[in-house]
Amino acid sequence: MNLDEIVCPCLGTTNQMIKDAVDNGATTLEEVQQETNAGTVCGACLEDIQESINFFLKK
Ligand code: FES
Repeated sequence: MNLDEIVCPCLGTTNQMIKDAVDNGATTLEEVQQETNAGTVCGACLEDIQESINFFLKK
């Protein structure tokens, strides 16, 4: 997992930002969207965001 990788190019959201949201208690795509705004423009990244969330939740 590359934490500097941009998962949502529309908003420049990185894996690190998704990890921070999960560390702050977000467990669902919706909660991560609320924290980071990731995936709220074109939606093309939603599956990738979900994969990142799953990865960080398992840790
Ligand atoms: S790439 Fe994430 S909303 Fe467009």
